[in-house]
Amino acid sequence: MMIKRSLAAAAAVFAGMSLHTVAAQQPMSLALLPKPRVVQPSAAGSYTVGSGLTVALTGARSPRLQAAVLRTLKRLEDTTGVLMPRAIGDAASGSITVRVASDGQPVQGIDEDENYQLVVTPTGATLTAPTTVGAIHGLETLLQLLQATPQGYVLPLVSIDDSPRFRWRGLMIDCGRHFEPMDVLKRNLDAMAAVKLNVFHWHLTEDQGFRVESKLYPKLTQLGSDGLFYTQDDARELVRYARERGIRVVPEFEMPGHSAAWLVAYPELNSGTQPAGIRREFGVSDIALDPTREVTYQFITRFLTEMSGIFPDAYLHIGGDETPAPDWKKNPRIIAFMQAHNLKDNESLQAYFNTRVLAILTKLHRRMVGWDEIFNPALPKDVVVQSWRGEASLAKGAQQGYQGVLSAPYYLDGMKPAGVHYLADPVPADTKLSPDQQKLILGGEVCMWAEHLDARTIDSRIWPRTAAIAERFWSAQDVRDVDDMYRRLQPVSLELESLGLRHLSSEDAGLRSLAESTEIDTLRTFARAFEPVSFGERYQQQHTSQLTPLTGFVDAVVPDPPVKHEVAVLMDTVLATPTAFDAHDAYARLRAFFSRTAATVPAMQATIRERPRLQPMEARTTQLAPLCQLALQGLDLLQAGKKATPGWSANADTLLIEAKQPSGIVRFTFIEPLTKLVQAVR
Ligand code: ACM
Repeated sequence: MMIKRSLAAAAAVFAGMSLHTVAAQQPMSLALLPKPRVVQPSAAGSYTVGSGLTVALTGARSPRLQAAVLRTLKRLEDTTGVLMPRAIGDAASGSITVRVASDGQPVQGIDEDENYQLVVTPTGATLTAPTTVGAIHGLETLLQLLQATPQGYVLPLVSIDDSPRFRWRGLMIDCGRHFEPMDVLKRNLDAMAAVKLNVFHWHLTEDQGFRVESKLYPKLTQLGSDGLFYTQDDARELVRYARERGIRVVPEFEMPGHSAAWLVAYPELNSGTQPAGIRREFGVSDIALDPTREVTYQFITRFLTEMSGIFPDAYLHIGGDETPAPDWKKNPRIIAFMQAHNLKDNESLQAYFNTRVLAILTKLHRRMVGWDEIFNPALPKDVVVQSWRGEASLAKGAQQGYQGVLSAPYYLDGMKPAGVHYLADPVPADTKLSPDQQKLILGGEVCMWAEHLDARTIDSRIWPRTAAIAERFWSAQDVRDVDDMYRRLQPVSLELESLGLRHLSSEDAGLRSLAESTEIDTLRTFARAFEPVSFGERYQQQHTSQLTPLTGFVDAVVPDPPVKHEVAVLMDTVLATPTAFDAHDAYARLRAFFSRTAATVPAMQATIRERPRLQPMEARTTQLAPLCQLALQGLDLLQAGKKATPGWSANADTLLIEAKQPSGIVRFTFIEPLTKLVQAVR
């Protein structure tokens, strides 16, 4: 690249052209995410998005397609500041021409054709797709192509031919442990559409709450939801909203475990132990539905029949995970049933239960999805296993002929960086699965469990990390450049904010609330040094329940803030060529980060004394200044080509060990690069 660029420059000088002209004639760099299958930058040049832009739909023109096009125009207008048309005319062609063969399936299916082609010429753009869903994806790509130039907003000349790698690209949101209002879910559907995710898995029931209205069994929400639930109209509206954006809605009703909220309302379904009320504690519960009584199946039949009138998707999730059900081993009636039916253990009894539920679903023309635990040879091959326990169990299912969806590496509550999730592949390059077995892997699903989030913080836990995973599900297996992904993640993150997501603004809102002030520059700089610990670590440190307030410093800060990757990359740069002139800028930026961060400490110590909700951060604040000093001294040594004294290294080790101990329910964002630096100068 370097060589080509300087050759071009030399040629330009030779030809008497300015460098600026040459640069303008290079194809523009694109920031598309997920990366399309084929992108051919045509010649240099662009189409300028200006007033007078027109749109034509020349094929199918369903209301859904028209609405998607009008939403796109509004977003184009918002970004460019140029007034866009408010209606779609009947013209045979426009500056943007959308040619769709058919609206597609009346209920979007797993085999919906999602392909599209997008060609930009100097006079406009043409989007061609077999279905509306394909066109919806293409419109998102069109928006991502938009670039600001001194001459205005342009679409670079390009020819794109795109289709997804996996058919099932999901996001699960747990609305059981904490309820999420409709507007929160809608904006998350907008965000999903922006990165071409196509399955919203709606986790609607938990020990901690039953969140969807049943008219047949109204006590489910009357007694099991604290009044926080979706009416049937809400649920239908969400299904409609999702369909408008090319997204299926797969509802999940957890059974036979994770079911305390069912039993609060209908004790006749219990296996012997009746919960005292909605469960506030987290973790696996002993409560389970009774799989041996016909009333249970009558109840489930009527309930699922009612729900299938609301949720048209061909797939329905029955949960099925984590059901230790000690009652099944203790209750004499259940023991007798198991003996009579030759069921040797709890697992066999759960397989019996699943077989009965499967028969109910089959009558309703629904296919069963369940977590890993439903995987049992007693079940036919048309159930889908969602793997939360790892790639190995997904592969095992596929080897035995079961379809699967991978979730284990996409648990957002692990608070891992986007780059780690990004590299986990449902079908990695070194897979041992045969080509036919690989076809059984339908795709993957991001899981957002809600023990530690609420409507204020959910967006920042999901986004932008989920956009990185969306690329894994959509784009080719060999698209794996983490730095390039992070480069493209930033514009996506901003676009999501334009769509109404609060993943960026919620951090400041949380900090303002903690500081009880609108002046949060210092607190914000300080906060950039921290991110929340994983679900498991928080649970250990805080013993949270559903009633725990989620308004601490840990709730305000966000996982994998952009500065974390920036500092890591800068550190790798200086470590690669410590004394090179090229590394100058990286040194300067690292020094700026650590000096700026250290400088917040005195003011933060004063603030913490006055703000009790910040007091858990006291020990971390004390650790921060010496760690920043360590970094600054280490950078000086590295740049000077010197080694540290043994005393300095020993002190560094002590500080790093202390920094890795639990405190404040947060961890430092820069410990890994700092550890590398300490090693390098040792
Ligand atoms: C799960 O995480 N128990 C599905």
